[in-house]
Amino acid sequence: MNAKQAAAFRAVGYVKDGMIIGLGTGTTAYWAIQYLGERIKQGLTVTTVATSEETARIARECGINVVALDSVEHIDIDIDGADEIDGAMNLIKGGGGALLREKIVAACSDEFIVIADNSKKVETLGKFPLPVEILPFGWRHTAAKLKILGCSASLREKDEKTFITDNGNYILDCRFGAIGNAADLESEINTIPGVVECGLFVKMAGRVILGYADGTVKELGRQG
Ligand code: 5RP
Repeated sequence: MNAKQAAAFRAVGYVKDGMIIGLGTGTTAYWAIQYLGERIKQGLTVTTVATSEETARIARECGINVVALDSVEHIDIDIDGADEIDGAMNLIKGGGGALLREKIVAACSDEFIVIADNSKKVETLGKFPLPVEILPFGWRHTAAKLKILGCSASLREKDEKTFITDNGNYILDCRFGAIGNAADLESEINTIPGVVECGLFVKMAGRVILGYADGTVKELGRQG
């Protein structure tokens, strides 16, 4: 079991019969979906909500029941990856472009469990470019306003075309350098007209499970 698999396996151990589970997006969440599928084959019953179309597709392939977020009242546990995790368990997410639905699902969850290999743990957020989901309408003006906050911003591309999110939006990858105050930056970014959401997840994670190459894991919990 590699680092990502180890973290994912531990997180799926928290899932109990009858729960409603949020399914994250990315290569680590992929393993959580696989392990959840295995437990379902062994008799576990759960309902899930996916954070991306890709995750919904993978989950259904694993025989997992995926429903719309609006068809459930709440989510018991959301299991998702991260691009960076700081000492206060604040996150940068959105490397896979699913940050908006990931944040909505995390915000609807009683517990948000973050799974990652230990390379994602950092002293200070900001080495990984911060993904910001923006409306295509007037995007150059939105990018200019973001740059005033002190970053360089590049429009995300995939296969030499502009990357389009599941919500029909663009992503700007913003290099701020070290992010001193994630909460303040998140508010500043999210008040710019044209910004839909940014990939800073501040005080949302309740538990972080870091996996190591030898298959062991370390859990970090929120204090107070
Ligand atoms: C997708 C995400 C992912 O959780 C993040 O990019 C981590 O992905 P991976 O587990 O593949 O490293 O935020 O939008």
